[in-house]
Amino acid sequence: MIRIALPKGRNLEAVRAALAGAGLEHGVDGDERRLRVGLPDRGFELLMLKDWDLPLYVEHGIADCGFVGSDVLDEVDGDLLRPLRLTAGRCRLSFIGRPGALPAPGSQVRLATKYPLIARREVARRPWGAEILRLSGSIELAPLLDLAEIALDIVQTGRTLAENHLEELEVIGEVAPCLVINRASFQQHRATLNELIDRLEAAGVAE
Ligand code: PRP
Repeated sequence: MIRIALPKGRNLEAVRAALAGAGLEHGVDGDERRLRVGLPDRGFELLMLKDWDLPLYVEHGIADCGFVGSDVLDEVDGDLLRPLRLTAGRCRLSFIGRPGALPAPGSQVRLATKYPLIARREVARRPWGAEILRLSGSIELAPLLDLAEIALDIVQTGRTLAENHLEELEVIGEVAPCLVINRASFQQHRATLNELIDRLEAAGVAE
C-alpha cells in the first residue's frame, strides 16, 4: 500500500481531476473533513495536508508521494523527487501592486509575501532593494493598505487583483502542481509509483 498526500488548498481540485483522469477515482473533494482516507481496494491511503506541510511529510517518508505547488517546493527546498507537473492548476508567481508601483532603479521598498526566500532571490537580481515582510495570506491587502509598496504572490484568474484595483506588475514564473516522491519510497514501491507516473502521463494530465 502507498500513502499519497493531497493538498487541501487551491490545488486539490486539479489533483483530484488528474487522478480521476488517470483512473484513480477516490471521491475525496474540497468538503472532505477526514484527514486520512483509506482506499484498501485501490491499494492506497490518502492524507489531507496543508500545502506548506506536505513536502515535510513526503521527505520524512510518512507519505510516499504527494501533490503540491511548485511555488511551495521552491520556497521550502526539500530533498524530493519531482518527476511530473500537472497540466491543470497552472498559475503565475508575480510582483503585484498598485498600477505603476514597480520600484524604480535605486529605490528601496517594502515587499509583502508568503515566499520570503523566493522574494529575496528575485530582489537580489533587480536594480532596486526591498525589506521583505512575511505574511500568511490575503497578501493583496498589504499593497492596498500601504503596509508594503509591492507584494510577491500567486495570480491565477486575476480576479483577486481586479477586485482590489491592483495589477500584475511583473511575472516571475509559472507555477504548477507537481507530483513529489520520497526517494526511499521510490526504491521500495518502484513498480506502483512508476505506474502512477505512467498513468498520469498517458491520460495527458501531467508532463
Ligand atoms: C491566492 C493568492 C491570491 C489568489 C489569486 O490565494 O494569494 O490571493 O489566490 O487567485 P486569482 O488570480 O484566481 O484571484 P489563496 O487562495 O491561495 O489563499 P491565501 O489568501 O491564503 O493566499
